[in-house]
This record gives sequence, structure tokens and C-alpha cells, in this order.
Amino acid sequence: MAEKEKSYIDLGERGKYSFKNKLNNLTGKEWIKFSKSWFIHRPPRRKNDEVLHPAKYPETLVEGFISFFTKEGEWVFDPFLGTGSTLIAAGNLKRNAVGIEITDHYHKIALTRVKKEKYSTRISALYGSSENVKKVLKKNKLQDIKFDFTVTSPPYWNQLERNSLRQKLRSNKGLATKYSEIADDLGNIKSYDEFIERQAKIFDNVFDATRTGGYLVIVTNNVYNKSKLYPLAFDTAVSLTKRGEKSWVLKDEKIWLQDDKPLIALGVNSAWVSNRHHQYCLIFRKEAV
Ligand SMILES: C[S@@+](CC[C@H](N)C(=O)[O-])C[C@H]1O[C@@H](n2cnc3c(N)ncnc32)[C@H](O)[C@@H]1O
Repeated sequence: MAEKEKSYIDLGERGKYSFKNKLNNLTGKEWIKFSKSWFIHRPPRRKNDEVLHPAKYPETLVEGFISFFTKEGEWVFDPFLGTGSTLIAAGNLKRNAVGIEITDHYHKIALTRVKKEKYSTRISALYGSSENVKKVLKKNKLQDIKFDFTVTSPPYWNQLERNSLRQKLRSNKGLATKYSEIADDLGNIKSYDEFIERQAKIFDNVFDATRTGGYLVIVTNNVYNKSKLYPLAFDTAVSLTKRGEKSWVLKDEKIWLQDDKPLIALGVNSAWVSNRHHQYCLIFRKEAV
């Protein structure tokens, strides 16, 4: 008797991959593991030109999200590309990817990093402002792409301008403590409310370039400024859900616990100042209305 056709393939240690899986190439076991609402990630040490950027995120971290929210051959986007970590992660996983970066210097680092790898998929590091996503894509003849997934980390408002210990250490080593002097660089916006609005407008652009059903992950955090906490992560989450017909649906947050950071003495014997060792990965989806 002919064996009943199987609805899955057994991948041994990895678990079983169901042919009904609509979202990714993961087995059920891998899917469940990733669905936990927090994770500890200890990235490998940054090398060479990667330390030149003041706020790079690790490729290994982005790979987790790309593996969960896309299948091989799908399209990934990053509107705040920096040194190109999202493109490297996407290329490593055989996804196509596009990123936009406003600072010439970081854009060039991203280009060089991508060129070195010789990926089999299409990987494009574009120069420009994500306040004009459509225009930048059109200039590079990529306007017809509908992205399956966006993963990105915008500037954390003006956080880099603060004279924190970390910034002092960087400037002592002659490393950049802010992204650029460019007016359209979101990291140079003085007003918190203006930052929230212009950031949301960029994600309106991302909304337009995303297929219905596609996901968005934003890595961000709440930030201190002049002894006060600004709920940047929470306001980011809320602001994107109130954009009329371009509203994203907030699905969840995943908390990145950074238990590899050393504790420093902040406010001891005086007042509450935390050692903020976590970041928020906010998960949104473009859903049919
Ligand atoms: C937190 S960093 C992203 C780092 C990146 N994930 C990486 O791993 O290198 C934010 C980046 O957004 C860029 N940026 C700021 N405003 C922008 C805009 N309007 N359009 C495009 N990029 C912008 C900054 O120059 C900076 O490199």
C-alpha cells in the first residue's frame, strides 16, 4: 500500500518542518523556541570598521528575526541601515534585502561590507533619507518591490548627544559620538514630540512599501534625558498604531536582555538611576482593513 503523503519533513535535531508553514522555514520546535517574549543575546565582539558606528546592532540578533519573519528568497528592508548589519544578516540567510542610510560614511561602510560577501541574493545598500523612501527606491529602480519584512533600529531620539560615560569613552578613543550633522538625520531632532512624529512618518513610508501581512520589528528603548525618563519605546509603539489608513497593528514586544553589560555606579546613595540593560524589539504587522 502506498505510504500516506506526509505533511511535514523530519529534520532530525531541528524538529519537523510542516509544509503548511506560511511564514518561515523553521520547524515547529524552532518556532516555539523563538516565541518566548524575552531573550538573552551575547553577540560576538565587533570588528574593524563596525566599531566606527556609535550604535550598531549585531547581525546574529537580526538573523533570529529574519529567520522567523521570512522564508528564503523573500524581501527584507531596513530604513535606518547604518553599517549594513541587516543586509549582512539577510544575505547570510539567502534573503533579498534593501537598506537606506543617510550618512555617506556609514553608507560606504555598508557597501564595502556587502561587496566582500558575494551573496547569491539581491542585496542593495542605498544612500538617502527614509523620509523619502519612495523616491530613493525609484532612483534605484526598486520601486516595484513589496517588502515581506522590515527590521531596523532608528536613532534613540537625541540619546547619543548626552554626555554619558559611554560617550566619553568613545570620544577619548577618537570615535564618533553622533551619527552626523545632517538636519534630516533623526538623531539631530531637538524636540521629543517632533522626533515621534517624523519617525512615525518614516514608518508610513515603510507601510506603503510592505505587502499586506508583512511584519515590522523596531529595536528601540526608553531613554533618559536631563534626569527624566522619556518612554520612547512605548510612544513609538503607540504612535505607529494611530496613523489612519497607514496604521500598523502592534502584535507584541520581545525584550532583549543584555546581561553581558557591566554594572556601573549610578545615583548611589542619592537617587534612582537604573543600569538599563534591556532593549525593546517591537513587533508590528500590516493587516488588511
Ligand atoms: C541606530 S543606527 C542603526 C544602526 C544599524 N542597525 C547598524 O547595525 O549599523 C540609526 C541609523 O539611522 C541613520 N539615519 C538617521 N536618520 C535617517 C534618515 N532620515 N534616513 C535614513 N537613515 C537615517 C543614522 O545615520 C544611523 O546610522
